[in-house]
Amino acid sequence: MPSSSSAVLKQIDIPNDLEAFWMPFTANRAFKQRPRMISRAKDMHYYTPENRAVLDGTAGLWCTNAGHNRDSIVSAIQAQAAELDFAPNFQFGHPKAFAVASRIAALAPGDLDHVFFTNSGSEAIDTALKIAIAYNNVRGQAGRQRLIGRERGYHGVGFGGISVGGIVSNRKYFGSLLNGVDHMSHTYSREHQAFTKGEPDWGAHLADDLDRIVALHDASTIAAVVVEPMAGSTGVLPPPKGYLQRLRAICDKHGILLIFDEVISGFGRLGAAFAAERYGVIPDMITFAKGVTSGTVPMGGVLVRKGIYDAFMNGPDRMIELFHGYTYSAHPLACAAALATLDVYRDEGLFERAKTLEPIWADAIHSLKGLPNVLDIRTVGLVGAVDLASKPDAVGARGYDALERAFHDEGLMVRSTGDTLALTPPLVITEDQIGEVAEKMGRVIKAVA
Ligand SMILES: Cc1ncc(COP(=O)(O)O)c(C=O)c1O
Repeated sequence: MPSSSSAVLKQIDIPNDLEAFWMPFTANRAFKQRPRMISRAKDMHYYTPENRAVLDGTAGLWCTNAGHNRDSIVSAIQAQAAELDFAPNFQFGHPKAFAVASRIAALAPGDLDHVFFTNSGSEAIDTALKIAIAYNNVRGQAGRQRLIGRERGYHGVGFGGISVGGIVSNRKYFGSLLNGVDHMSHTYSREHQAFTKGEPDWGAHLADDLDRIVALHDASTIAAVVVEPMAGSTGVLPPPKGYLQRLRAICDKHGILLIFDEVISGFGRLGAAFAAERYGVIPDMITFAKGVTSGTVPMGGVLVRKGIYDAFMNGPDRMIELFHGYTYSAHPLACAAALATLDVYRDEGLFERAKTLEPIWADAIHSLKGLPNVLDIRTVGLVGAVDLASKPDAVGARGYDALERAFHDEGLMVRSTGDTLALTPPLVITEDQIGEVAEKMGRVIKAVA
């Protein structure tokens, strides 16, 4: 007889063999054979259940820019949970949602002054794409429905995000995706860019690929172009000098919206609140997530320019202007976390800190040049990537081996995408810890040779 769920609920000891959790973006079988468990964190470190310290070289998943378990952020979340657990933001509101939106808008460049909240980067991208198409509808250009992404782009895992995204494995299993999407070429060339610190000199002309796409489809059919200013998940590709400016100019020439996906570049990663500021290019929308709460509570969002918001503020004033939103958009816990996180960024000058540390970080990571199998190293802001040569017939095996050895043998968290190792530490990392990351990486790279 199968036991009823109410009987199961009363059962105290449910056996846990790790099987039930289908882990996201993980080699489940390999993980469950040799787990990499984390049970607590503080500042720059994770700790395993056995209390072994692991230096966080990745800010979790490009999230914890303020460092882990910061007292003021923890207290703000605790206090919020006790004061207001949930309030709907459909037709009602709670004060902190408006306060966070104002603070984020104030940080954004130009007239990017309205914020639509989501709970993740994927939702932020799908929201931005929907706003782009709806905006063209409300401004009387309903023919503009096409969306243009870029090869090697990562925009999360919603159907919109994988459609404009350009990472083959994230697309090929999932059917025909959205209609009317095209992709510009990516911006990486090892031949012209290897071992560059910051933005490579070569490659601005690749923005002209948008002109090719416009010539094919006609501008009157294109709503928006979406790019990560710095492509992160594909293995860290800083934009060539002048590339984003050229993209902006081409979009302007054709009346196409430009969306920057700043889910990982936002909130200090590149030494400014947003990459848009670092590069002096104002897009029409910016998507963000992760660093907005330093990863503590899920939150994402889309910053839009005033003109876009205003275009929707038409018709009877009791009509909903945009039929879109999530139950948890601007959840009270996320808002409390965001406000406390923004305070930490301000009070500790963490965006400037990332900028000051950039050359020290770049030197440390580039010191790995010359080690076995190192084909290229790229750094920008507090981001670094090392491309390792793939083993014959086993693409990704060396990268996975490196991830495991870093965690188990060196006490370092790195990210591997294929055979590229990516590093993105919390912005509170010290100079000594930067040295430690480079030393540990050096030993790992030798160990997987
Ligand atoms: C540029 C970019 N966009 C979107 C996403 C998706 O964010 P999420 O995993 O919160 O849905 C990510 C995640 O890494 C990202 O790097």
